[in-house]
Order: sequence, then C-alpha cells, then structure tokens
Amino acid sequence: MRLHVVDHPLVAHKLTALRDQRTDSPTFRRLADELVTLLAYEATRDVRTEQVDIVTPVARTTGVRLSYPRPLVVPILRAGLGMLDGMVRLLPTAEVGFLGMVRDEDTLQARTYATRMPEDLSGRQVYVVDPMLATGGTLVAAIRLLIARGADDVTALCLLAAPEGVEVMERELAGKPVTVVTAAVDERLNEQGFIVPGLGDAGDRLYG
Ligand code: PRP
Repeated sequence: MRLHVVDHPLVAHKLTALRDQRTDSPTFRRLADELVTLLAYEATRDVRTEQVDIVTPVARTTGVRLSYPRPLVVPILRAGLGMLDGMVRLLPTAEVGFLGMVRDEDTLQARTYATRMPEDLSGRQVYVVDPMLATGGTLVAAIRLLIARGADDVTALCLLAAPEGVEVMERELAGKPVTVVTAAVDERLNEQGFIVPGLGDAGDRLYG
C-alpha cells in the first residue's frame, strides 16, 4: 500500500475551514466538494488513458482520452456521498458503484449494509471515496471486497486520516495494489474512535 499526503496550500486552507466547528453544513458540503477536486487531481495521476488522433482547427495531432474499461468510483455511504460529485466531475466517464457501511459506535467494527456495484471488476481501476480513515476497519473491508471482485488498482481518497488507521491499512493490505490519498494524517484517535484534532463526524456535518 502506498500513502500520498497532498501537500498544497489550497488543500491546507480548505481543510482548516472544514475542521472549524463554526463551519455550517452548507459550507462544509461546498468545501468538501472543492477539496475532493484537489485530491482527485493527485489521485488520478495514474488513471489509464489511450492515444487518440484528432484534428485541431490548425493541424492533425495525437492526444489522450480516458481508456476502457471505465474507472469505477465507489462512495462509502453515507459520508462518502459528499465526495462523489467532485470525483465524477473530474472523471465524467466513470461508472459509480455504492457501498453502504457503518461503524458500530461501541465496538468500532465496520458493518456492510448495502452493496451495489458490478460483480466483476477484473482489470478495473477503482476510486473509493470516504472522508475519514479512522481505525481503518471500513476501508480495509471495502478494499478487500473490491480486490476479491477483481479490481487490480484501488485508490482511496480520504479528507483526513489517523496514523492508527494508516498503520492498519499498511498491515492488512501489504503488497496489494492500493494507494491512499489524503489531505492530512492527524495526531491520533481518541477513545471514541474520533480523529484528533480531526473535524468531528463527517457524516453528521454533511447530512446530520
Ligand atoms: C465514518 C466514516 C468512515 C468510517 C471510518 O462513517 O465516514 O466510513 O466512519 O471509520 P473507521 O476507519 O474506524 O472504520 P460512519 O460509520 O460514521 O457512517 P456514516 O458515513 O453513515 O456517517
């Protein structure tokens, strides 16, 4: 597994505003959307393309377009939905699959309650979006499912990560074709499984 922390002043600026408890829900949604676009720019650096011949008003030339099979974008419900629009804006040909997962507040174990995506992901590039990588249980389970269906290149985009979750991902997904792209790795997880300093409960701040 590879970790990429996007180091950019615009990313830091938007993340700071997201962290601020005074940021209201409409502003939080807008900022999350904008931040995804910046993270997606880095996360899609290896998106597969194919060469095409075109004619400009001036001359013939060659360029690239996103290749087939189409990339798959998978938001993890509910909070991941807040990152979906920003992602498909950059990848307009992407197919979208859905994974509903929730973390038990006491045990912190992830439970899958909905799966709606292609059975066969052989040869597909997959982009999973979920704002928070806390204990890592949710993303590990999601990515295992995608790899079991044949995905051969999985990139997870998270707004924020905890070092504990990154460590779990590195251990559980060692040697797998997985990249995690995030705006920051924070200090730690607290006893309730929240990222510190974090930004609170992303699902509640988006949709609560
Ligand atoms: C949050 C978050 C991740 C998960 C991270 O979702 O959006 O999916 O917790 O935790 P983990 O790394 O410890 O597994 P939550 O379970 O609160 O569901 P929601 O998106 O429906 O609010």
